[in-house]
Amino acid sequence: MRSIEIPTLRRLANIINEAIDKIERVYAEAEIPLPSLDAPFNPADPAEALLQNPTVEGVTLNIVAAAAQLSATVASPSVSAFNASQAFHISACLRAASEVNVVEVLREAGGAGLHAKEIAAPSKTDPLLLARILRLLATHNIFREVTPNVFANNRISSVLDKGKPSKVLFQNRDERLTGTSGFAALVEFSADHDMKAVAMLADTMLDFKEGELGFNRAYNTTASFWDWLHRPENVYQMQRFDIGMRGTAAMESTDAILRGFDWSGLPTGSVLVDVGAGIGHISLVIAQKNPGLRVIVQDLKDTIKDSKIYWKEHLPSHVESGMVDFQVHDFYAPQPVPNAAVFMLRHIMHDWSDELVVRILRHLRDAAQPTTKLVVVDKIVVSAARVPDSETEAIPGAKRPLAPKPLLPNWGVGKAEVYYYDLTMHCMVGGVERTLQHFVEVFDKGGWKLERVYHPAGSQMSHIVGVPSRLTQDTRPQSRSHM
Ligand SMILES: C[S@@+](CC[C@H](N)C(=O)[O-])C[C@H]1O[C@@H](n2cnc3c(N)ncnc32)[C@H](O)[C@@H]1O
Repeated sequence: MRSIEIPTLRRLANIINEAIDKIERVYAEAEIPLPSLDAPFNPADPAEALLQNPTVEGVTLNIVAAAAQLSATVASPSVSAFNASQAFHISACLRAASEVNVVEVLREAGGAGLHAKEIAAPSKTDPLLLARILRLLATHNIFREVTPNVFANNRISSVLDKGKPSKVLFQNRDERLTGTSGFAALVEFSADHDMKAVAMLADTMLDFKEGELGFNRAYNTTASFWDWLHRPENVYQMQRFDIGMRGTAAMESTDAILRGFDWSGLPTGSVLVDVGAGIGHISLVIAQKNPGLRVIVQDLKDTIKDSKIYWKEHLPSHVESGMVDFQVHDFYAPQPVPNAAVFMLRHIMHDWSDELVVRILRHLRDAAQPTTKLVVVDKIVVSAARVPDSETEAIPGAKRPLAPKPLLPNWGVGKAEVYYYDLTMHCMVGGVERTLQHFVEVFDKGGWKLERVYHPAGSQMSHIVGVPSRLTQDTRPQSRSHM
């Protein structure tokens, strides 16, 4: 019998329906309702924990991908293309709302919401403009317009809550992000510096100047982003960046770091060097679960100051027992720790070009013992085309499932984050998100053999593990193009 092909629209709708059936079943069994879009996010609600149930999590991704693909299929292509060209409004409005602490003012107002005049009063901003900003966001399901010009938080807006009374936020602007989850800092930072730098993408391509990035053009500087960030006049931005790095953990459970590389398999007293650690919030999670590990937090001077404060607040026992050290270390200089069990590089490799990454890896390789592992925690780029990845399939743990047809195999916008990061890295710091084959080659040049990959459940970041390989003298940049 010939099979009849179900038209694409119906197949996409079926993916959504099957996903909803599964979600309904999980919630019916638990006898709790699905969290509402209209209500603020409550991490303590058991209904939220169910969203992380592997069945629910998997089909949620299908819904996101299928809904976007359905819209793209049926909507006017001109309207879709034009709306895509206007997406910057969402970032700009989101940052504006967060900068004037709308979320906290609305939290205090409760579900009935507040008129734009009252929302704007503490920041002394224009109420009509603020209403227009919030309406644009409400139209994208961020905030809720309860009645005309009256707005309330919803599930999405509420995750930007800095968790402090609004009065405190307005009293001390310099400290408004200190002690927060970091998510608002991340969003503000992205919608500020990243957006401005990426806006220059086409300009830097058409009028190409060697070494000039979108960031340089947007900020009219020849300094690198890192040097700019560490200037005394940019201390607020630097703190916002450091706090914002912790905010990345809000997008995936912090214990994702514990679900890949086996930290508990390291002997007691093993040394974990968190290279370019930021405040060291990820090695702190590892140390909480594995108190026998000695941690060395390495970063630049000002960041190390912040990391000491963070560890004293969040894991004082490790600080008091001397099981954590804080080192000011430039990873382009020889690595000073000779006895590392693990060098961890989280969100570091994507910041740098191949040539510079190879220099970082070689310093680590020079300091490595034969048993030292390199654990790179980064996203891995996959193509949007449905093709077998034969080059890297043999690496243990590397294979990943593809989205069911007719979805884009990479789940399309359901997993857009890595493609956003990729171009943010390019425009801000000249970095790149890499395919696994690209990682294999850069590891190799840096003196490491890529030995295994973990894709922790519920995380978009993979753990890419290397062991020391024989160093060659070839330090030339990659000749191969990653296309
Ligand atoms: C994207 S953040 C990642 C921080 C942390 N690993 C994490 O996962 O949150 C990059 C870090 O690299 C640090 N960094 C930049 N250049 C550096 C250098 N030359 N030596 C050491 N650290 C550096 C920055 O200060 C920043 O904390």
